[in-house]
Amino acid sequence: MSDNLEKQIWEVLKTVTFPGMSRDIVSFGFVRSVDCTGSRPKVQLAVPTHNPGSGDRIKVEVDKALQPFGDVEVSLEVMVPKQAQAHRGTARDSGLLSHVRHIVAVASGKGGVGKSTVSVNLALALSARGHRVGLLDADIYGPSIPTMLGIQQKPRVEDGRIVPFEKYGIRLMSLGFVLDVDTPVIWRGPMVIKALEQLMGDVDWGELDYMIVDLPPGTGDAQLTLAQKVPLAGGVIVSTPQDVALIDARKGLAMFRKVNVPVLGLVENMSTFVCPRCGERVDIFKHGGVKRTAETLRCRFLGSVPLDPQIALGGDEGVPAMAAGEESPHAEAFLEIASGVIDELERATPERRPLTIV
Ligand SMILES: Nc1ncnc2c1ncn2[C@@H]1O[C@H](COP(=O)(O)OP(=O)(O)OP(=O)(O)O)[C@@H](O)[C@H]1O
Ligand SMILES: [Mg+2]
Repeated sequence: MSDNLEKQIWEVLKTVTFPGMSRDIVSFGFVRSVDCTGSRPKVQLAVPTHNPGSGDRIKVEVDKALQPFGDVEVSLEVMVPKQAQAHRGTARDSGLLSHVRHIVAVASGKGGVGKSTVSVNLALALSARGHRVGLLDADIYGPSIPTMLGIQQKPRVEDGRIVPFEKYGIRLMSLGFVLDVDTPVIWRGPMVIKALEQLMGDVDWGELDYMIVDLPPGTGDAQLTLAQKVPLAGGVIVSTPQDVALIDARKGLAMFRKVNVPVLGLVENMSTFVCPRCGERVDIFKHGGVKRTAETLRCRFLGSVPLDPQIALGGDEGVPAMAAGEESPHAEAFLEIASGVIDELERATPERRPLTIV
């Protein structure tokens, strides 16, 4: 009985959005607990924000939404997001990427699921939507973006600043441009951070609406440090639909939450395969697994990308799927993902900015 009531309360709480935002308070992680074991249900809210008024407004909305349940005790705790403030402060104070409106990290729990493919095509899709976009390949262990975009030369340095490459309308920089590809990279700790700081600080990125950061695969210390070092507005997690990949996707989510970076959503890559000869649709892995996982984890499902040899071929030849803009056969998939990202970040009141980093 109390289980059922608790479930119903969670469902109602999911309908409460932060004033002016499209995202609900449950997916933001603002609901600490719902307890229906006592004589009256108790709901604990914990809102990390610099603006106490925001917490009060959420409480008013929650009280209103829970009215049908009768006497519910709703408590509110407003905390100043110290940790994120410190990280963001460090990066911003040193002027790193202060001219970039939204920095979005693309992560995956597992290697080889198509993170770089999604990063490149998401960047191009955002550009096709009319935004100024940069792409930062922060994959220390296997920078692949130079290959995917067909760039082999070393970057130019002008007035002591590294000039980013421009290809298909986006700016890009990768550790692959400054590293010898044949050198095994066993960079750890401070060296990794130093390299990333260089890519953020010494590159003349100019003004950008979005910067997509392709993180190294996995959710270990290296990724965590990078996610902390870059002043991120949000994270996108890429997964294939198999159960084993999904377990890792959950780790990706936990990683972003650990560093107080909101997860903008999950992307399913290598989803349904459409046979180029007969047109038959084959679900090589369990199609739809990522969407279901997104529902369970209460975060947005941004869209799915089909498994298509053309996508792999394009990546190898330096012509990514979205390079043909909206004419590309896979444009729809990547544009939908881009729309979800824009929606999560742009459709917000100015208050959204501090909240994206809590
Ligand atoms: N939707 C797709 N259809 C077909 N091939 C794909 C698709 N997505 C990615 N690939 C191919 O799968 C391989 C791995 O993709 P990618 O390099 O993007 O993965 P990754 O997660 O960045 O890998 P890593 O962990 O090594 O960084 C590449 O050869 C790529 O072209
Ligand atoms: Mg990669």
